[in-house]
Order: sequence, then structure tokens, then C-alpha cells
Amino acid sequence: MFRVWDISLVICFSLSLMFVGVEGASELPPPRNLTFKWETPFTLNLTWEKPKDLEPDCKVNYTVNAHHSQDCSERAKQDMSGAKNTETRRVQNMTCKLNISNENGLCISVTVNPENCGNKYQSPPLDISIPPPPVRLVKNRSCEYSHNRLKCTWHSDVDVKDLGFYYWSPQNETVIKCNEMKIGECVIHDTFLKHMTNMLYLFNGTYKGKPVNNTFMDERPVDLVKLNKPQLTIQRFGQSLHFQTTVSDLDEFAPQCYRYNYIYSMCDKSVQEKDMANSKHVMDYDSNCKYRARVQINFSYKCGAGKSDLSDEVEYGENRDPNLPALLAVIIIPLIVSCCLIVSLVLLRRHKDIIFPKIPEPTLIFKDMLINNIRTAEDLRSTADGRLYIPIEEIVESKISLEPETPLIPTTTNTTHKQV
Ligand SMILES: *[C@@H]1O[C@H](CO)[C@@H](O)[C@H](O)[C@H]1NC(C)=O
Ligand SMILES: *[C@@H]1O[C@H](CO)[C@@H](O)[C@H](O)[C@H]1NC(C)=O
Ligand SMILES: *[C@@H]1O[C@H](CO)[C@@H](O)[C@H](O)[C@H]1NC(C)=O
Ligand SMILES: *[C@@H]1O[C@H](CO)[C@@H](O)[C@H](O)[C@H]1NC(C)=O
Ligand SMILES: *[C@@H]1O[C@H](CO)[C@@H](O)[C@H](O)[C@H]1NC(C)=O
Ligand SMILES: *[C@@H]1O[C@H](CO)[C@@H](O)[C@H](O)[C@H]1NC(C)=O
Ligand SMILES: *[C@@H]1O[C@H](CO)[C@@H](O)[C@H](O)[C@H]1NC(C)=O
Ligand SMILES: *[C@@H]1O[C@H](CO)[C@@H](O)[C@H](O)[C@H]1NC(C)=O
Ligand SMILES: *[C@@H]1O[C@H](CO)[C@@H](O)[C@H](O)[C@H]1NC(C)=O
Ligand SMILES: *[C@@H]1O[C@H](CO)[C@@H](O)[C@H](O)[C@H]1NC(C)=O
Repeated sequence: MFRVWDISLVICFSLSLMFVGVEGASELPPPRNLTFKWETPFTLNLTWEKPKDLEPDCKVNYTVNAHHSQDCSERAKQDMSGAKNTETRRVQNMTCKLNISNENGLCISVTVNPENCGNKYQSPPLDISIPPPPVRLVKNRSCEYSHNRLKCTWHSDVDVKDLGFYYWSPQNETVIKCNEMKIGECVIHDTFLKHMTNMLYLFNGTYKGKPVNNTFMDERPVDLVKLNKPQLTIQRFGQSLHFQTTVSDLDEFAPQCYRYNYIYSMCDKSVQEKDMANSKHVMDYDSNCKYRARVQINFSYKCGAGKSDLSDEVEYGENRDPNLPALLAVIIIPLIVSCCLIVSLVLLRRHKDIIFPKIPEPTLIFKDMLINNIRTAEDLRSTADGRLYIPIEEIVESKISLEPETPLIPTTTNTTHKQV
């Protein structure tokens, strides 16, 4: 029981200690006279002053927050939702440079943080807002990189006669004009492009008599790699099928930067083989399947980002029913055999006279022979000539007749026979 009291007392004591401790804490005063200057079209130089009435032993530093909207009240909302629309910098002195675009306007805020300043806590922010340019000169920008060339395209629905397109060269520390200017397109040539960490673009021109600057910040060129459309060939080697990719432009970066995605179907079953290192892909061949395949080259995340278009579809083989041979054996072969049988029977019936010529009826011959023999047995003693067999003369075919070997036989035999 007294344990609970002890604990309660301890809690009360520590709580009261905390309140006593916090009693002296207070907010730091905000900074003063925050100003900005565009040093280049892309670089914003911010300066401000120390807060007034800061105790001499109070050490502070500053947080600079750049939010990509003119409306500073939106910042709190977006910070809550964790949107990545703000850049934050912590600095020791009272100036800060930012590489930043002006396309949506900006809300810049600076707060004072205590570094070593007793019971003080962070100041409220001091805000300035920078409006966006009066007109958006271009829309739907996109760029593609290949072989030291960055091709940028855009749409423009404002009437600006002297539209200029520039990019920031960190090497030369200046803006460089893109000279291959067409309507809605320009190609930047620069051997330094693939080493850049980001791209800063400037579009400027005269709109309604006033100069306008639009600046944009974009990914580095190696994240915008565009590869040529590959070609796929399929070849069969024995029981395996080889997919071979050929493409002309995989020479700018290391071989491991290029990855192959094979997208194919076999017998209407879809398969994707992603992130293959090799331009050749080997698989077991199913001779009963039709293969349809395409390939796409992906630029590895280790080197940047980007891809090629999908190749044209290539086909190989035919879909076949694997049960076909069994079906053939069970149904079709007996069917064919019986058909043949029927046909041959019909033919036999129709042409039986040709196929099986008429031969003397065996019964007759045998009967004749039998009778002859009986007679000879009886006549053995009486007459020698009566022993011989005499076939009945019978006409078989129109002109064929069986010629008995007659010279030995007397013509009287017939009469004797009849007499018996
Ligand atoms: C700072 O701002 C105050 C008014 O807020 C002004 O009187 C003062 O001259 C400014 N200081 C500088 C250095 O600009
Ligand atoms: C920013 O511009 C001011 C002049 O407006 C200059 O005194 C200051 O040195 C610049 N800051 C930096 C970091 O260059
Ligand atoms: C501010 O600090 C940076 C380093 O953090 C230094 O390069 C710069 O010169 C300082 N500027 C001033 C005005 O003290
Ligand atoms: C600013 O002060 C905080 C302490 O309040 C410290 O953590 C931070 O490292 C400091 N930043 C700079 C740039 O000195
Ligand atoms: C340009 O972008 C807008 C949205 O920003 C989109 O609605 C439109 O379809 C795009 N136009 C083209 C041609 O891509
Ligand atoms: C701004 O960008 C340029 C080139 O892109 C770079 O040299 C410079 O260090 C950057 N400055 C800041 C403050 O990030
Ligand atoms: C940029 O500087 C390099 C040398 O660093 C030079 O060769 C090149 O011509 C310059 N480019 C332009 C557009 O001035
Ligand atoms: C556009 O910017 C370039 C470089 O800053 C400048 O030389 C040119 O005069 C500008 N054009 C217009 C129309 O503002
Ligand atoms: C446009 O940028 C140039 C620097 O290239 C600057 O001198 C000019 O004042 C800017 N114009 C506007 C209207 O922001
Ligand atoms: C291409 O590669 C990227 C990363 O390198 C990956 O996120 C993406 O899914 C790949 N695309 C395909 C179609 O495999």
C-alpha cells in the first residue's frame, strides 16, 4: 500500500521539478531583414541579420527553408503530409545560397535555433515570398540523353518571338545558349553532360513588352538516357531457343550499365525475364509452342536511368496439340484403315472377274476324278485302257480351254464309262 504512495510522491516531485526547470524557457526572437538576390538565373543569395536583443553568450544557428510555392501558408500543410516540395539548409552565418527554380514562386523562411543558449528554444520563422514569373513560357518539357547530346522538347502556347533556351554550365560557371533551336525542340551538345549532377535550364523572352525568365531544375542527363530501339532474332539450336539482341548504340557506358528485359509468350503463357546482363538469352524449346518475343534495353540504376523502346515482335514455331500423335493413333489411323478396307471391298466386287479369273469348279474335277478312280478299281482286271483319268472337257474362258493329253486315250472310253 505505502509503495503506491511512494511512487505517487516521486512522480509529483519530478513533475514539479520539471515545471520549475521549464519556467525560464522562452522563444528566441526571429531574424531580421531577410533579403534575396538572384546571382545567376538559378542561384538565390539570401541574407539576413541577427535577431535583436540576443544575449552575447547565446550561440545560435539558422534553418533556411525554401518551399516551392509563393503561398507560405501552404508550407505547414505540406510539411505535415511529408511532401518533398521543400529544401532545408542549416547554416552558421547569416547568408545562404540556393540553386533553385522560380517556376512556381517561392516561400523562403529562416528560423533561429539555439546552439548553446540556456533555456531558449527555436524562434518563429521569418518569411519572404517570391512570386512566380508572370507567364509560363513552356509546358510539358522533357529531355533525352545520348552520346553527349541532350535533346529537349516542349510545348509553348504563349506568343513569345524571342524565346531563348539556356543551361547552366558548372564547368564554365555561366549560362550557355542552346543553338540548335527549332520550334519546341533544341539539342544541347556538351561533353560534360554525363558528369553533371543536375540540370538548370533557363527559358527567357519578351512577353507583353517585358522580359520574362523561367527557370527549371531537372535530373542529371544520365537519368534521362534514351537507347536505340533494339532488334531481336530467334534461333533454334537443338532443344534450346536463343534470343539474340542487336542494337547499335550500347557503347557509351560500361557494358554492365545495359540490362535486357525479354518479354515473351510461349503457347499464350506470358513470361518476363527482367534485368538480364546478356544480349543472348537461352531457354528450353518446346516444339509444340509458338513463341512471340520482344526485347527492351534498360539502363541500369547503377549508372543512371532510362530505356529503349520495345523491339518489334518476333515469332517462332507453331502452337500444336501435344496429344495429336495419340489422337492420330487412336482415332484417325483406324478410320483410315477401315476406309481403305471398304474401298478395296467395293473395288474387289466390281472387278472381281479381272482380279480373280474363273477357274474350274473344284467339285466337278474332284467328282470326276473320284468316279474315274472307282471305275478303274473295278476295271482293273478287265481292261488296261480304262485305268486312265479322263477329265471332262470344260470351257473356262472365252478362248481358253483345257487340252487333255489325249493321244493315249481311245475314244471309246466314254462309251464304256456310260455302260458302267
Ligand atoms: C533592416 O530593417 C530595418 C527595418 O525593419 C531597417 O530600418 C534597417 O535599415 C534594415 N537594415 C539593413 C542593414 O538593411
Ligand atoms: C550575397 O549577396 C550579398 C550582397 O547582396 C553579398 O554581400 C554576399 O557576400 C553574398 N553572399 C554570398 C554567400 O556570396
Ligand atoms: C558563411 O559560412 C560559410 C561556410 O559555412 C563560408 O564559406 C562563408 O564565407 C561565410 N560567409 C560569411 C558572410 O561569413
Ligand atoms: C545548429 O545547432 C544544432 C543544435 O541546436 C546542431 O545540432 C546543429 O549541428 C547546428 N548546425 C550547424 C550547421 O552548425
Ligand atoms: C501537357 O501537360 C498537360 C498537363 O500538364 C497535359 O494535360 C497535356 O496532355 C500534355 N500535353 C501533351 C501534348 O503532352
Ligand atoms: C549550384 O549548382 C552549381 C552547378 O550546378 C554548383 O557548382 C554549385 O555548387 C551549386 N551551389 C549550391 C549552393 O548548391
Ligand atoms: C566552356 O569551358 C571549356 C573549357 O573549360 C571550353 O572549352 C568551352 O568552349 C566553354 N564553352 C562555352 C560554351 O563557352
Ligand atoms: C535571356 O538570358 C540571356 C542570358 O542571361 C540574356 O543574354 C538574354 O538577353 C535574355 N533574353 C531576354 C529576351 O531576356
Ligand atoms: C532574368 O535573368 C537575368 C540574368 O540572366 C537577369 O539579369 C534579369 O533581371 C532576369 N529578369 C527577370 C525579369 O527576372
Ligand atoms: C529498369 O531499371 C530500373 C532501375 O534500374 C527499374 O526500376 C525498372 O523496373 C526497370 N524496368 C524494367 C521494365 O525492368
